[in-house]
Amino acid sequence: MSGKTKETITIFGGTGDLSYRKLLPALFNLYVNQELSEDVQIVAIGRRDYSQEAYGKIIQSWIETYARVHVSDECMASFLEHVHYFQMDFTDLSQYALLDDYYASMQGSNNIVYLAVAPSFFDVIQTGMRTVKHLSKPKIILEKPFGENLEQARLLNRHLEECFGKENIYRIDHYLGKEMVRNILTIRKGNLLLRNAWDCKSIERVEISCLEEVGVETRGNYYDHVGAMKDMVQNHLLQILSIVALEDVDGVVKQEQLKILQALKKMDVDSIVLGQYEGYREEEKVAVDSNTETFVAMKLFVENERWKDVPFLIRTGKKMSKREIEVRILFKAVDGYEADVLVIKIQPVEGIYLEFNIKTPGGDGVSRAKMEFCQNCNLVYRMNTPEAYERMLLACFEEDRAWFTDWELIEASWLYMLDVEKKLRDVKVLTYPVGTDGPCSFFDLL
Ligand code: BG6
Repeated sequence: MSGKTKETITIFGGTGDLSYRKLLPALFNLYVNQELSEDVQIVAIGRRDYSQEAYGKIIQSWIETYARVHVSDECMASFLEHVHYFQMDFTDLSQYALLDDYYASMQGSNNIVYLAVAPSFFDVIQTGMRTVKHLSKPKIILEKPFGENLEQARLLNRHLEECFGKENIYRIDHYLGKEMVRNILTIRKGNLLLRNAWDCKSIERVEISCLEEVGVETRGNYYDHVGAMKDMVQNHLLQILSIVALEDVDGVVKQEQLKILQALKKMDVDSIVLGQYEGYREEEKVAVDSNTETFVAMKLFVENERWKDVPFLIRTGKKMSKREIEVRILFKAVDGYEADVLVIKIQPVEGIYLEFNIKTPGGDGVSRAKMEFCQNCNLVYRMNTPEAYERMLLACFEEDRAWFTDWELIEASWLYMLDVEKKLRDVKVLTYPVGTDGPCSFFDLL
């Protein structure tokens, strides 16, 4: 930890869900593991009138729930000394002068500004930050969704690059920092068995699920505006799909991902199912007549030789029966046998599951062998595996851009979404009961 230049991180949205659940616990983990500079300063910006002490108490309970490392009183007290609550209305440009004065007293040399707010606020914050002079060369982390549509994302990107410099913009998609998402490429690339069978000759279909038990919680305002399509599909799910489908595993990953996003075939209305959980309209800050989808299932095709006619089925939903993020590869069946299945489990279990055929032990028939590697069942692996946000924050301090999304990828996914959005106008949003798997299964899409 010593020897590092003084780090500061400013979080716009310091009282938001993302800060409480992910960013502050991640910073705590990094702090306890001595991965931040000794004199790191965390400036949490929020509108609410909290004293330093009151804010400390609030984040303490979130960190106790979400931190990966043991939370001792001593570590907590020490960490809280580095966290400063800065009350400000960031939509009021006159208030940036006070922030500037505050920075003058801090003098960090490795600075991050994290925009943990809805994309509609990015513009006002960048306008305000243009007037701030005492924060040297900040690296700006932007949360997804980046913009609200293609046109707006392009405009926003231009403004941000002009204001902070292209090299200082870090667009985060925290799914790219998840351990098992990073493992997808290794599993395919490093195993001849899979490497040679990763195409339409051997694969029947690919299923990507991202199911959550939680609802919209305190984020009704943001969520009702974007829905599952922009909250999850446009970014996390398309990122995973493009990694699974890479054409050349030895090529430059982001360039290969881009080719896949550009090769996504325009879809038919029948290939999309939208759902909304019962009671969603009664959630805080959700419109009483809201038609926003909290569930999406889609069938996509990648138009290239490798993936000819292979459906990629994706689905995501809130208030589902379980939390489960996984990629399921279903191979083609050999005549007379069941098909092999490979599952890359991303969350909450991190691991790999393989199901294939063997001779029935002691008999003549055929049985299924099920082999499972659970990575986070192993305490040592679990303790040594940083959470996605830890990795991303550290990577940003170290200016390692490999962990972040390129603008070209975001642009390509918005371009694809343009067509999807047109189709959505003809798709009815179906209601589904809380605690189920949504209004349709993958089979309904086939
Ligand atoms: C965020 C979405 O990007 O990802 C949330 O905005 C969602 O709606 C969250 O709950 C899921 O992330 P994770 O890491 O808990 O799978």
